[in-house]
Amino acid sequence: MSWIVRFQPASARAVSGGLLDDRPALVSRIWDLGANAIVEQPATDATASAALIAGFDDPASAHRAVRMAADWGYSATVDPVDTPWHSDAPSQVTISTIRGPVALTLIAGPTFGHGSHPTTELALELLSRSVNLDRPPGRVLDLGTGSGVLAIAAHHLGAKSITAIDLDPAAVDTAKANFEANGVVARCSTVAAEDLVGESGEFDTVLINVLVSAHERLAPSVGRLLARRGRLIVSGFLEHQQTRVINAYQRARPTLRELTTVSRDEWIGSLLGQPPGYPPPESEPATADAG
Ligand SMILES: C[S@@+](CC[C@H](N)C(=O)[O-])C[C@H]1O[C@@H](n2cnc3c(N)ncnc32)[C@H](O)[C@@H]1O
Repeated sequence: MSWIVRFQPASARAVSGGLLDDRPALVSRIWDLGANAIVEQPATDATASAALIAGFDDPASAHRAVRMAADWGYSATVDPVDTPWHSDAPSQVTISTIRGPVALTLIAGPTFGHGSHPTTELALELLSRSVNLDRPPGRVLDLGTGSGVLAIAAHHLGAKSITAIDLDPAAVDTAKANFEANGVVARCSTVAAEDLVGESGEFDTVLINVLVSAHERLAPSVGRLLARRGRLIVSGFLEHQQTRVINAYQRARPTLRELTTVSRDEWIGSLLGQPPGYPPPESEPATADAG
């Protein structure tokens, strides 16, 4: 059983391209409440207004979403449906690599990560850009792996090793199935990033697509786990939240700089890394990896 919540603006609202102007913030909030999928339905003509439709696995979360809607000036209805709303159908995601495009087959199952959410696409683009720029991913940590999509892309882009974690056991099961289907060898476990025990500087690339509040919470652990010349690919936040995210990681690792930023549908993704020439060659540790 799934619960479908339909949000519609309680009054006339600004719309661009058929979609509500204020939807990104509401979409973030709905993911926060535990939605397993969100679809934006554009206004089709002058009479049908735009709507957001979200699926939930449990009725309590669906009803919390309905109560929250009023605070945002939306009305909401909830309906139970017999079949899970997320899709088990495999989706195709294409990533660009230095050897050309590679198609991945993914089953998102009950988790986030069918590959075509803008936040995932941004992270995939930044990963390709980082590699095409100058360096292979090295030892990769995919933090909040979901379906495993980013880890699988990292594998195709030449990752030396992959560690994938998620606090949601259903995500870990799905990621493991996808790793097997795509021939990826990865350490994959159910663990909250806050509890991840790892050596300092263990990872050359950390991939992390979570909400702004989670970025802020996880930045100290990520800063510790990142190698000295490591790179961080962050997405899952909106333009007005970018400074908060970058500040959080710079507090954890003051040498990090914003190397590239990309955007899609109001979502932002950034590649953070060390400025060129850091660290000076004489201070580079003998174990430094990945470029
Ligand atoms: C937005 S999804 C991203 C999935 C996939 N990496 C992608 O980019 O499509 C965020 C994932 O992070 C997981 N997550 C959120 N907070 C986490 C935490 N503190 N520790 C581990 N996983 C977390 C969620 O369960 C969810 O699967």
